[in-house]
Amino acid sequence: GAISRHDYRPPAWTVPETRLVFDLDPATTRVTATLSVARNGEHAEPLRLDGAGQEPLAVRVDGVAVNDWRIEGEQLVIPLSGDAHAIETEVEIAPERNTQLMGLYASGGNLCTQCEAEGFRRITYFPDRPDVLSRYAVRLVADKARYPVLLANGDPVDAGDLPDGRHWAEWNDPFPKPSYLFALVAGDLAVNRGSFTTQSGRDVQLGIWVRAADIDKTHHALHALKLSMAWDERVYGREYDLDVFNIVAVDDFNFGAMENKGLNIFNSRYILADPDTATDYDYDAIAAVVAHEYFHNWSGNRITCRDWFQLSLKEGFTVYRDQGFSADQGSAAVKRIEDVRGLRAAQFPEDAGPLAHPVRPDSYLEISNFYTATIYNKGAELIRMMATILGPQGFRAGTDLYFDRFDGTAATCEDFVACMEEAGGVNLGQFRLWYSQAGTPRVAASLSHQAGEGRATLRLAQHVPGTPGQPDKQPMVLPLKLRLFGGETGRPLGPEQLVLLDQPASTIVFDGITERPVLSINRGFSTPVIIESDRSARELAFLSAHDDDPFARYEAMQQLMLDTLVAAAVEGRADHDAVVTAVANTLADADLDPAFVAEAVLLPSESFIGDQLASVDPEAIFRAREDLRGALGRRLSDQWRHAYDQAPAGPYVYTPAAKGLRRLRSVALGYIAASGADDAARLAFRQFETADNMTDRQGALTTLASGQSDEREAALDIFYNRYAGNGLVIDKWFQTQALSSRDDTGRLVEELARHPDFTLANPNRARSLVGAFGANQRAFNAADGSGYRFLADQLIALDRLNPQTAAKLLPPLARWRRFDAGRSGLMRGELERIVATPGLSKDMFEQVSKSLG
Ligand code: ARG
Ligand code: ZN
Repeated sequence: GAISRHDYRPPAWTVPETRLVFDLDPATTRVTATLSVARNGEHAEPLRLDGAGQEPLAVRVDGVAVNDWRIEGEQLVIPLSGDAHAIETEVEIAPERNTQLMGLYASGGNLCTQCEAEGFRRITYFPDRPDVLSRYAVRLVADKARYPVLLANGDPVDAGDLPDGRHWAEWNDPFPKPSYLFALVAGDLAVNRGSFTTQSGRDVQLGIWVRAADIDKTHHALHALKLSMAWDERVYGREYDLDVFNIVAVDDFNFGAMENKGLNIFNSRYILADPDTATDYDYDAIAAVVAHEYFHNWSGNRITCRDWFQLSLKEGFTVYRDQGFSADQGSAAVKRIEDVRGLRAAQFPEDAGPLAHPVRPDSYLEISNFYTATIYNKGAELIRMMATILGPQGFRAGTDLYFDRFDGTAATCEDFVACMEEAGGVNLGQFRLWYSQAGTPRVAASLSHQAGEGRATLRLAQHVPGTPGQPDKQPMVLPLKLRLFGGETGRPLGPEQLVLLDQPASTIVFDGITERPVLSINRGFSTPVIIESDRSARELAFLSAHDDDPFARYEAMQQLMLDTLVAAAVEGRADHDAVVTAVANTLADADLDPAFVAEAVLLPSESFIGDQLASVDPEAIFRAREDLRGALGRRLSDQWRHAYDQAPAGPYVYTPAAKGLRRLRSVALGYIAASGADDAARLAFRQFETADNMTDRQGALTTLASGQSDEREAALDIFYNRYAGNGLVIDKWFQTQALSSRDDTGRLVEELARHPDFTLANPNRARSLVGAFGANQRAFNAADGSGYRFLADQLIALDRLNPQTAAKLLPPLARWRRFDAGRSGLMRGELERIVATPGLSKDMFEQVSKSLG
């Protein structure tokens, strides 16, 4: 049944020490666990250890075999009389048969683990909850030829050979940790070593472990790790605390990466990069994820979560920290734009649909389903708002207090907010609603000018929409940065202000405003809300050219484009002039960073346009967007050609400047193709063939993949043959085709699902085709329901192998209420077919039943 946040009880028994012995083998691994347990308080509870159906081969209490234990559900229950005991259990598990990729499993001939959130119980019997912190000593034994490298958390203690071709290694982690941070790796791996000296002089040995053939693709990750370590010292005063820090890359992984203490395990897509196989986007993502996992050492490991309802305590804060790191590596403005675009693409729809939940949820059936954009990305926005309210010094004092006070403990979101309040000297009482109320607030903003009185009046009103289980909402605290500009002179009319809107409605008066003012609001996206303003196309165009806040400038352009596209999709009214002029001005502004220009001139996605409409008409949206793209392409043809000609000089370098130029070129190429120019396919194909890097090659392939040319077929073949056997690049080949805007994408995707290289067993491959297709609004929502049927078929098959990854791919079907009766009926039909499938996982059941509502 559902687990409720209010049912939290401290553990009846603690486990100060844990000793694990692994006799590793892919078919049968024997795990011997010795737990020192201590009664926690006065009670007569037996010891309850979580498992996952393993048979306890032996249970010993203080060295003596006992048989008064029982299995209740999936727990091993052992009656105990005294207050402290040594409990020993033995189980056998089969890593090679573990297709869920939770617990101990095999990937590419190696053995590795994933324990968050509840995978450790699939390895051994243990109180598998984050508030039981234990000191681990681990002995690994394995065949030496097959598994020459044996890694676990903490520092290495000793290693040696055994007579029968086997060997052993012992690792010791001095920091008490919850079981979800346990990790081991056994494999045939090469290492790229580095070192880092911390601010207090500790020498840390760094290692990135991969298969030998990939070793040349680890330099970027290693460099990012060193940058992260220095950044956390400088910005948060956080220093690393062990003598070694290892990262292992594996090809089969349910998500991005995992912050296991001293032994991070990564999806190889977030480690491996070289210019020939990874895009600039991949390079950025690698640095961000390496930083994210490294930062967890403090925000997650030294201080962990009391229970899984507090997940955003570590994830929201750590995302906020990795966003800050990435912002400092290049353009902070572009990073902010990317993050907000991501929030709107993933979190806003979640908040507006049947799977909406608060940043601190109140109940769940399966915790894996709560590793969401709300917990991660909206959670990061909450931290950002507190930082805005407290200011930089107050915020740093707050994090210092938090790290100091809760070091070595399992804490709550409330603990974090209380530290912010105390250190910042502010009252965050009402702010806490951000943790408990789901849904994206909407703010209506209307500025009027009383020219005669030299006054401007801004009326603000907020509304938080109802969400499942939360029909009525209270007004929240919305930190809105705003500024007025003179509509004639373009000059700012006064400084930027921070307004805390904490009432349902409020009026702000600006005096001394003689010139017609234009409103710049929610600058820097200071609060994660939807602004409904009555600003005209003229005012938005003005802001897109004159606002001094780069985010607000981008935002004004987006709003202008959105208004234009919505009018076109709903009323068929295609007036492109304002957008064309604004884009032309942006392209012509030589002071702007090309990376910013590339973001600013990009049209909102089809799904974001759909989110603005009462009922999504995917064809009308697609047409409206293609029309506008075509108009921009044709009417600004010279500017796109000019931008396209500004290639970075020399061979590929990953620098902010070169990256920005490549990004703008690929956007320009897209518009040239949209213009219908005769030479577009030839231009793209030439770029495809002459590129010395994957960014340009994939950019060209993406453009070709949406067209009808002979070059398209040639490029797809060349790309496939060139990279056959490179899983990460073949993923791109699948993904590019699944995202194509061609009319026959649905049919092509069904064919690709029968391609010999397609498999649901590898999560990256499953996501590259099935996940990408679900994100292709027009193709997925084909009126005949073929896209829905395809997704449901794939999810039913994947659920049998890997429920966690399957459940993650469901949300496109959960949007059924947003479509016309025909489509929504078909979508519901598929959801009902999924939920009626015998043997459905808890993961999938929760998502589907909530979607059906
Ligand atoms: N803690 C990991 C990270 O944020 C992700 C773990 C995801 N676990 C899950 N069950 N989905 O980097
Ligand atoms: Zn994380």
